[in-house]
Amino acid sequence: MDSLIKNIDHQIAFNQGKNLFLDKPELFQFAHETVNALSQIDHLNPASIEALIDYTTDKAIEEFYRVNQYYSFDLKAKNNLRAIYVDLFQAFQTKTNSVETISKEHYEKLKDWLRDNNPFAEKIYQHADENVKPVACSEYTAQLQINILRLDISQLMQPVLDVGCGQNGHLVNHLRDQGIEAYGIDRFNFSNSNLITADWLEYNYGKGKWGTIVSNLGFSNHFNHHHLREDGNYLAYGQTYMNILHALKTGGCFHYAPDLPFIEKYLDKAQFGLSQYEINGYDFKTSVVKKLG
Ligand SMILES: C[S@@+](CC[C@H](N)C(=O)[O-])C[C@H]1O[C@@H](n2cnc3c(N)ncnc32)[C@H](O)[C@@H]1O
Repeated sequence: MDSLIKNIDHQIAFNQGKNLFLDKPELFQFAHETVNALSQIDHLNPASIEALIDYTTDKAIEEFYRVNQYYSFDLKAKNNLRAIYVDLFQAFQTKTNSVETISKEHYEKLKDWLRDNNPFAEKIYQHADENVKPVACSEYTAQLQINILRLDISQLMQPVLDVGCGQNGHLVNHLRDQGIEAYGIDRFNFSNSNLITADWLEYNYGKGKWGTIVSNLGFSNHFNHHHLREDGNYLAYGQTYMNILHALKTGGCFHYAPDLPFIEKYLDKAQFGLSQYEINGYDFKTSVVKKLG
């Protein structure tokens, strides 16, 4: 099983960053090791094959997110991708078609799947290079996030939720080291129980539950992106933004950057107080929305 997992990692690395929208299926190839390994998986028990398909699906999703942080895949999209890998594994086992045919069909399915779930991708990549440049998604030190988000650690209302906390959860870990009850959500798989794997559009934030909610270059950055995009899911973002605000305790605050002027202007002033701060070296602001009552 370990060697199969290595093969899958190697295969994904082999096609890393290649542009699906160029109509050049020959760009995508299966390494010989992958072909050999997948042809021999029939000796595995069904549970191991299922686990391998799950692993491949998760790795592929991770790779898509690495290439473009604005891709989004809901449960249905993930299940559809899994079905594509079920077909692929079966094709290698039955060997009815040549490797070239299997590869070409798989590539077409992946392209259709990506186009169905993120239509903007075709627009930006159909005239791009063979290797696409990743859309950066960096993680920042806890101190930089504290400065940007205007957090006063000594006054922080608890518990704290970091929305899009990053793979390392730097801010959550730093706050916990200071004795503050803090949790993070992100779409990565975590082994730390304070960091929860969840899509921020699907997470149940609860009501009146959090003292402070933070999101540094996370939720609001994507909300802006969806607001500007023709096929953007701005309604779900708007709904989630309100869910986050209602998840605050009275007196609690949502600190985020960049700011969201197009929705902040509609906030009910009787319910929410908005403060904004310039950030040195950036052309956007930090917003802090306080739940008043
Ligand atoms: C630019 S990084 C910032 C990470 C962290 N806040 C920091 O400042 O270091 C944006 C984060 O948002 C996460 N993210 C993007 N879309 C998400 C989604 N739909 N649900 C949960 N997290 C998401 C990414 O995985 C990434 O970790």
